[in-house]
Amino acid sequence: MEVQEAIGTRRSYRFLLPHKPVELEKVQKMLEAARLASFWGNVQALRAVVVHRETATDAVTKSLFAPVAGFQVDRAPVVIVWYLDYGALDEQGERLKELVRARALGIEEQAALDYLDQTLIPFFEAAMPLIKEGALTDMDCGQGIAQATLMAIEQGLGTCLLGTTNQEQIKANLGLPETAKVLVLMCVGYPAESREAGGQRPRLPFEQMFKLNGYDTPFPRSETVVEELTEAKMLQASAPLPWRQAELDYLQKALDLPNF
Ligand SMILES: Cc1cc2nc3c(=O)[nH]c(=O)nc-3n(C[C@H](O)[C@H](O)[C@H](O)COP(=O)(O)O)c2cc1C
Repeated sequence: MEVQEAIGTRRSYRFLLPHKPVELEKVQKMLEAARLASFWGNVQALRAVVVHRETATDAVTKSLFAPVAGFQVDRAPVVIVWYLDYGALDEQGERLKELVRARALGIEEQAALDYLDQTLIPFFEAAMPLIKEGALTDMDCGQGIAQATLMAIEQGLGTCLLGTTNQEQIKANLGLPETAKVLVLMCVGYPAESREAGGQRPRLPFEQMFKLNGYDTPFPRSETVVEELTEAKMLQASAPLPWRQAELDYLQKALDLPNF
């Protein structure tokens, strides 16, 4: 699947086949995609524990709890617990040096290493408390999770992210380090619903979200580009497709779902 189509096809798939196993090789490909995502200073603080319902202990599966639409967690064959390890930030100097040695940063190697030691690393160390509070690190974790999502779509899988309020119990049951912060649970499985999953979910108008050179000027949205992206299946028909209610009725019965 082309990347444009994968972006367009990506949905939160809330209805997964509980009985169809997910190959761990496919999950590996999702993790490989997450691993390659950009991260400020190449810190790579995004980590995950894959919970494979078939083989995980009861204590582990039972600790996975999501307050909103939690029925998904109870039925998903795989739940990826994505977490941020703040411990990775303490190794940031080393990560920067690796970038210089890989010739991705700086022009002349020794000069760049000296600059890191004398200027950049002390700057980041001083700023670390602010960095830990800020949004950049969380945002970069999101980039990795987004890449894993696209890899899932490409392999015919569906995913849905769910926030959890069970931070401490999940950390304890999975044996995560003290420095871990659980970000989100990702249900993974083969979709029980159609690939369209009811159609493209509502989005705010493009011009309201994106501007050119200042807040007052909407970014000009070219109709030609819209047509191109529609052709490439990135832009798809809006939800709800005419048969969505019938599909939902069917899914409710098939998956024995509560009325909500
Ligand atoms: C970080 C994140 C956390 C989310 N948490 C929940 C959740 O706890 N419960 C839920 O039902 N949906 C959750 N969602 C799914 C969103 O509701 C969904 O992305 C949104 O409705 C748009 O649908 P789409 O993903 O199909 O475009 C979450 C999505 C993201 C990105």
